[in-house]
Amino acid sequence: MFQKNVSLRALNTFGIDALAEKFAEVNSVSELSTIIEAQKDVFILSGGSNILLTKNIEKPVVFLNIKGIDIIERNDSHVLVKAQAGENWHEFVCWCLSHDFGGLENLSLIPGNVGTSPMQNIGAYGVEIKDCFENLEALEISTGRIKQFTAKECAFGYRESVFKNDLKGKYIILNVTFKLSTSSHQIKADYGAIKDQLASDGVLSPSIQDISKAVIAIRKSKLPDPKEIGNSGSFFKNPVISATHFSKIKAAHPEVPYYTVTEDAIKVPAGWLVEKCGFKGKRFGDAGVHKKQALVLVNYNRAKGADILDLAKNIQTEVSRQFEIDLDMEVNII
Ligand code: EPU
Repeated sequence: MFQKNVSLRALNTFGIDALAEKFAEVNSVSELSTIIEAQKDVFILSGGSNILLTKNIEKPVVFLNIKGIDIIERNDSHVLVKAQAGENWHEFVCWCLSHDFGGLENLSLIPGNVGTSPMQNIGAYGVEIKDCFENLEALEISTGRIKQFTAKECAFGYRESVFKNDLKGKYIILNVTFKLSTSSHQIKADYGAIKDQLASDGVLSPSIQDISKAVIAIRKSKLPDPKEIGNSGSFFKNPVISATHFSKIKAAHPEVPYYTVTEDAIKVPAGWLVEKCGFKGKRFGDAGVHKKQALVLVNYNRAKGADILDLAKNIQTEVSRQFEIDLDMEVNII
């Protein structure tokens, strides 16, 4: 069932050439269950869009490639759509748009698969998947039982869920059901970049398809395509700091962009901090910081995971030295 010494280069969006000492692809829940019954200590690989491989993987790697999209329930206002874990996220969003199902359009072009989308509650341009999430089914590794999780049980936060915290490594997400609109779509065009893009496209009354087009244009203009330059989207989370701390930074840098979370919690874009520390567009061997978005670390060709990690640590040290802010990595370091 397992192949030996398989390169994972094509299966992680950073394009890191690490090896799986043992590798199996599964295409159904029953195949997965059979493997898990025999072998509990496995490494589950899905879209590979939020990992940095710094070494070869000794545990058996199980590549989750379960596909399928089903309409579970539909009425005049809503539809419940269940997508299997191995569906590519953007292709799933496009499928929803082609059926005129609304809710996920702001999340167009995010790399990765449906099954990992709840892990870090993927988000962009004013929307997170928790906003359209109905439930998910996951396989408990220790018992082989399938459990359904509500949004509350997933404990979604900013790039967070229970699957990254208390239940880390305990469940394998099999499918996710979303509640989407079938009519009177709620258009979310408040995010500055979307407004600007729609204005430049001359769109006055956007449809969900227009929003998707705008998001795709924005992402393409700033974020590197993993098929061309290896990357994992935002490498760091945007830090939240106290109002006092923020006012010190603002005094020195009046132009600092920010979002107010609460009266005493201010979110500062990590990309701005990294740029201010002089890293934007810098290249160190084959590891680098993207020239258009400093939050994205890139693999120009043959960087090792350790090279990217060294760069990330240097950035953390410099941001901490200049701004007294500890940046948290968003990407899972393996
Ligand atoms: N900025 C800079 N320099 C940079 C990058 C950004 O000064 O190199 C400034 C921008 O000018 C802007 C602010 O930082 O004022 C925010 O930038 P942007 O709108 O690009 O968003 P972000 O906060 O950097 C977050 C998400 C992205 C998501 C965008 C849009 C995180 C960690 N990242 O980035 O998510 O696409 O908002 O909603 O929250 C991802 O998670 O992989 C990802 C790409």
